[in-house]
Amino acid sequence: MKIAILGAGSLGSLLAGFLAEDSQAELMVHSKGDHGAMMVAKGLKIVGEAEVHIDANQALFTLDEIGLPEQINGSMDAILLTGKSNSIAPLSSLAQRLLRPNGIAVCLSNGLGHAETLVDALGPHRVICGTTTYGAWRPEPGTIHFAGRGTIVLGRLQDGPSQVDVQPLLDAFTRSGLACQWSEHGPAEVWMKVLLNIAINPIAALSGVKNGELLQPSLFSAALETMLEGARIARQERVHLPDDLALERRLQEVLQATSENHCSMLQDVRAGRGTEIAYLNQAVVERGERIGVRAPMNQMLSAMVEALTPSSNQH
Ligand code: PAF
Repeated sequence: MKIAILGAGSLGSLLAGFLAEDSQAELMVHSKGDHGAMMVAKGLKIVGEAEVHIDANQALFTLDEIGLPEQINGSMDAILLTGKSNSIAPLSSLAQRLLRPNGIAVCLSNGLGHAETLVDALGPHRVICGTTTYGAWRPEPGTIHFAGRGTIVLGRLQDGPSQVDVQPLLDAFTRSGLACQWSEHGPAEVWMKVLLNIAINPIAALSGVKNGELLQPSLFSAALETMLEGARIARQERVHLPDDLALERRLQEVLQATSENHCSMLQDVRAGRGTEIAYLNQAVVERGERIGVRAPMNQMLSAMVEALTPSSNQH
């Protein structure tokens, strides 16, 4: 099975480290900048919870700045998009070029709207929803620190591929040691992950704390209020979510399970990078505006994170 990982930063490179273990997978790993250049030259090193080295010739490592060979056009059975939210539109165009006519594409990045961007590029028959809770960060170019095991959830989108169509990809994940599951409710899975991200990421980024510190009562109630604002908007969009008490329990569980993590938005702020706020809290505010539901906590957090990183991404 030919699998391409597009936008291979921390998460995508971690997944590449796993998938390279599957002898039935032919892997392409597309990245940019110093990290991409290092992988093209020397391969990829995974440290932390697992130690793996993938030689530069064990996968097809490609660099955005150089471009791709024409002969791989239309050849990929599956494409995983794992870049930052603002790279998903250009990566979807690349997916259009690389995916075979009945191949499958999924975006595992945080945020709202990515599956829709992929559907625009590829058509609904080739797109599924995806989320992941695997944790990774990049200590230096070419090296990824595997910070925590999680799960990959792949989910059905209206008019999209079924579990039977996606089974070869699920099998490739399982063979390579990645925990994964299928859901018949793709958009609800994406919203559930977004609700966790809007609750955790901006508050942790603004206060500079590890996820576990959001369990303190005052920070927790701010995080929960932000999450429930988002849930009200999702329910208006007819997304089926658990009740508020179950959402509160889920938030607590994730904060406990990731208590030692510096969340991705805090990492972006500390590194001086643009954040994903436009695809998280700001996107929730915009969805609410469309249906006349206000989201003041999300609005305030978006404005504050935007002010912290003035050059951060726009829709
Ligand atoms: O963005 C992140 O860092 C993660 O999605 C999560 C779940 C908030 C854990 O840090």
